[in-house]
Amino acid sequence: MAGETKVTVYYGPLSWFEEQLGKEPRTYLLDAVNERDEARRRIRHTVDGQEKLEEEEQTPRPKRLIAMSSDYASVSEHAITNFVGLVREINPKHLFLHNPPELIQTQLDRVFETQVESFTYPVVTRDTLIRFRDGFADQLVGQRSVRERMLAALYPLTTERRTKPVVLMFYGPSGVGKTETAQFVNGLLGGQLLRKQFSMFHSDKFASYVFGGTHSEGSFARDLLDRSSGVILIDEFDKANSVFHSAFYEVFDEGFFEDKNYRVNLGPALIICTSNYASEDEIRNALGDALYSRFDALIPFEQLSTDEIKQVIDRLVDGRIEALSPEELKLLDPDAIKALLHGHASATSNVRKLGKLVDEVISLMLVRAVMSDVSSAPESPTAEETA
Ligand SMILES: Nc1ncnc2c1ncn2[C@@H]1O[C@H](COP(=O)(O)OP(=O)(O)OP(=O)(O)O)[C@@H](O)[C@H]1O
Ligand SMILES: [Mg+2]
Repeated sequence: MAGETKVTVYYGPLSWFEEQLGKEPRTYLLDAVNERDEARRRIRHTVDGQEKLEEEEQTPRPKRLIAMSSDYASVSEHAITNFVGLVREINPKHLFLHNPPELIQTQLDRVFETQVESFTYPVVTRDTLIRFRDGFADQLVGQRSVRERMLAALYPLTTERRTKPVVLMFYGPSGVGKTETAQFVNGLLGGQLLRKQFSMFHSDKFASYVFGGTHSEGSFARDLLDRSSGVILIDEFDKANSVFHSAFYEVFDEGFFEDKNYRVNLGPALIICTSNYASEDEIRNALGDALYSRFDALIPFEQLSTDEIKQVIDRLVDGRIEALSPEELKLLDPDAIKALLHGHASATSNVRKLGKLVDEVISLMLVRAVMSDVSSAPESPTAEETA
């Protein structure tokens, strides 16, 4: 066999992997595997027909063989357990792997000259803290104590000493700014927020998602590897069954998340869990001491007052109106819309529902205005009447 295969393993988001690869020609692993299978079939035929052709020698050695994070799902489990054999057969000059399962990396490491490159995730700096402090009120109404608690909780991430994540639990009623706050911090750091809603997973699916399943199934570990954001948002943490809690001990403690196939080191990331628990006691009772004590901070979100809800409504209306065309704008009176909606603001109302109400009211007013234009226009026969 002519020459060794050089291996480079990349851990990080797909877009970054693409950048690292550059523009030189590529051969994709799946294409190479298909071609090999095809060649085998041809050889078997010619051997049966007693007419030996030297097909195998004719396949040129790929210069750059690429395996994407999603490719491992498409090759057989057997090819994963004997990945070295597969690579030897295809015999590329240089193999580029994106977020491979741990088993693949350790196998290759033993046999080939292997280099590992990791994406540098955005980290919280002093500048992030300043922008958080100064921008908070523009993004969120009320919740002043959240701002102070967050600054204190984020501070450790700005120091060199910190090598593991900061893990926060946001708790409080629905629609008071928990997810919004997580998105705000992520916006300061950049990267697309990795957001997982734990209520969406139900038992059996969730087990393979958290603990790992076959390579063709999605998993939390792989999503963590594929992420580009410094913030990891686990929404509705209270909706996950308690059998899954132990899966989070190590990642909350040390920043390592491991499942059947993958091992991820999160480093000084920010993990935010959200829940609708009402108090710290409730969290402790529901999650148990072992998990409860692993949060770096538990940050309560308050119910918004009626006045604060009115402010949220005004912001929602202004936000929606900005997106309208100038023609639509002429048809609306923002103040009248706000006044109408303020009637629905009480300290018990769910702000998320108000968001939908704002949309509905604006659409309704636009439709009415447009329809009254139409009905005041001179009558003309409709398509049905002329037909
Ligand atoms: N304090 C706030 N300031 C500004 N907007 C807010 C605030 N609270 C809620 N909103 C608005 O309501 C929407 C829903 O808020 P958010 O998603 O943050 O709720 P939540 O606290 O995460 O609720 P849940 O527990 O149901 O997930 C947001 O998109 C935002 O428009
Ligand atoms: Mg939320």
